[in-house]
Amino acid sequence: MIDEILAARDGALARLAAVTNLADADAVTADLLGKKGPFAAFKTRLGSLATVDEKKAAGQAVNEATSAVEAAAAARRSEMQRAERATQLAAERLDLTEVMSRPTRGHAHVVTQAWQRLEDVFIGLGFQIAEGPEVETDWHNFEALNMPPQHPARSMHDTFYVDHGAPGSTVLRTHTSPVQIRVMQTIEPPIYMVMPGRVFRNETTDATHLAVFHQIEGLVIDRGITLADLAGTIEKFTQAFFGVDFTSRLRPSFFPFTEPSAEFDIRTPSGDWLELGGCGMVHPNVLRAGGLDPEEWSGFAFGFGIDRMAKERHGVADVREMYANDLRFVTQF
Ligand code: DAH
Repeated sequence: MIDEILAARDGALARLAAVTNLADADAVTADLLGKKGPFAAFKTRLGSLATVDEKKAAGQAVNEATSAVEAAAAARRSEMQRAERATQLAAERLDLTEVMSRPTRGHAHVVTQAWQRLEDVFIGLGFQIAEGPEVETDWHNFEALNMPPQHPARSMHDTFYVDHGAPGSTVLRTHTSPVQIRVMQTIEPPIYMVMPGRVFRNETTDATHLAVFHQIEGLVIDRGITLADLAGTIEKFTQAFFGVDFTSRLRPSFFPFTEPSAEFDIRTPSGDWLELGGCGMVHPNVLRAGGLDPEEWSGFAFGFGIDRMAKERHGVADVREMYANDLRFVTQF
C-alpha cells in the first residue's frame, strides 16, 4: 500500500504542477484532497490492514503524502493567483503619458500684454495705478465730466443703459474718464495716476471699432501744472513705450472735460502720424465735481485705447481678430 501511496502522491504533485490557472488549481486540489479523493480512500483502507505496524507505517505515509500535496496545492494556488493578478493589472494599465499629450503653456493675451506694458511704463514715470467700476452712474460718466443732460457731446458716446435705479441713471461706462472723478474724490493731491479698464459702447463693431474695449486714463493734479507738463509727459511716454525713434505732437481738439483740449498723435520712424488719444488741461468744473478748488489745483488728463495701441503696434488689420479666440492668431504674440 505504501508504494501505492507514494505513486498517488507523485501523480498528485504532477497534476498540480500541470495546472495553468487558478480555477484549475482549485478544481484539482478539491479532486485530490476531497472526501472522494485518493488520500481519503487510503485512510479508509487503513482499517483493513493486518498488523498494527503496517497500519502505523501506512498511516504515516498517507499523512506525509497528504501534507506534501496540501503544501504543493497551496503554493500552486498562490502562484496562479499572482499570475492572474499580474495579467489583470497589465490589461487594466492606462498609459497616461500617451493619453494626455503634454499641455501647451499659455501666455497673456496681446491686449493684456499691452495693458501690462503701459502700467510698467507709467510706473516708471512715477505714476500709480487705480481702477474704477465698469457699471457707473450717469453722474460720474457724464455730468461730473462737464456733460450735463442734453449736452451735445453725449451723443458721441453710444451708451448702454443698465436697468437699475432711476431710468437713465446707471450706465456701462463709455470711457475710463469717470475714474478721474472717483480718484479726485478719494485721494488728496498731488495725484499722478493712470486708470486702465474695460469700457462699453453701444455701436456696431467693424475693423476699427469694438463694443467692448479697453482704455487707459491718466490724471495729474498738482500745484502749477501747465500744458508743457502734459506735452512733456506724452513725449516721454511715447518714447518709453514705442522707442526713442518715435515722437509725439498735440493737435487742438475739443473735449468737454478739458480746456484746452488736444488729440495726441505719434510719429512712427517711417514718418507716418498715428492718432492715439485725447488729452487736455482738466476743466475747472471737473475739478470742482471731484471736490478740488480750481484756484488751488490744476492738472492734465489723457485717455487712449489699449486695444487700438496693440493693433497698431502689431499691425493687426482688424481689431475683431483679437477677440475671435483663434489660437492661430493669439499664439503669434
Ligand atoms: N474719454 C475720452 C474718450 O473716450 C478720451 C479722453 C480725451 C480722455 C481727453 C481724457 C482727455 O482724459 O483729457 O474719447
